[in-house]
Amino acid sequence: MELLKKQLSPKRYQHSLRVAELASCYAPRIGVDPQKAYLAGLLHDCAHELAPEVLLQKCLEFGIVIGNIERKNPFLLHGPVGSQLAKRDYGIEDPAVLAAIAEHTTGKPGMGKLSRIVCLADYVEPGRTFSGVEKIRALAEENLDLALLRALENTIAYLLAEERLIHPLTILTRNWLLEEVRP
Ligand SMILES: [Fe+2]
Ligand SMILES: [Fe+2]
Repeated sequence: MELLKKQLSPKRYQHSLRVAELASCYAPRIGVDPQKAYLAGLLHDCAHELAPEVLLQKCLEFGIVIGNIERKNPFLLHGPVGSQLAKRDYGIEDPAVLAAIAEHTTGKPGMGKLSRIVCLADYVEPGRTFSGVEKIRALAEENLDLALLRALENTIAYLLAEERLIHPLTILTRNWLLEEVRP
C-alpha cells in the first residue's frame, strides 16, 4: 500500500481503495476469496498514472503486443502493463489477480469471476457519479453479471456518442456476457 500510494495521485489511490472495498464485498456472493478481490481492486490501476510514452515503452519491455487502437490510445494499456508491474514490483503471483488487473479496462471474453467483479467495482464504486451509475449499482445488488453487461453496454454507448474508438475486446466481452446471462 505504501508503494502504491507513492505511484498514484491521492485521488487515484482513494479510488483504488474504494474499488478494493467494493470488490471484496461482491466476492463472497460468487465464491471468490474477498482478500484476493481486495488485492486485485487495490492494484488494478497501479499503472494508471504512467505517461503514454512510458506505457508504450513498458509494453516493449514486457513483450505486450500493442494493437492499432492501443497505439492511438495508450491509456488502454494501463491494465496489461499494471498486471506486469503487480508481478514485478508488488510480488503478486496469483494468476486470477494478475488477470483481473490486466483485463479491467477492456474486459475479455471468458474472463473469470475475480476479473468480472473488479471490472464492475471499478465502474460503480461510490465515487462514480456519471448518469446511469445508480441503476447499475442497484442492479449489482441483484445480479453481478447482468450489472457488468449493462456497464459494458453503457461504455460502448458512451464511446459511440463521443465518436471515440471502441476496443474490439469490449464488444467481444459484451457479446460473450450477453450469452452468459441468458437463462
Ligand atoms: Fe483503470
Ligand atoms: Fe479504476
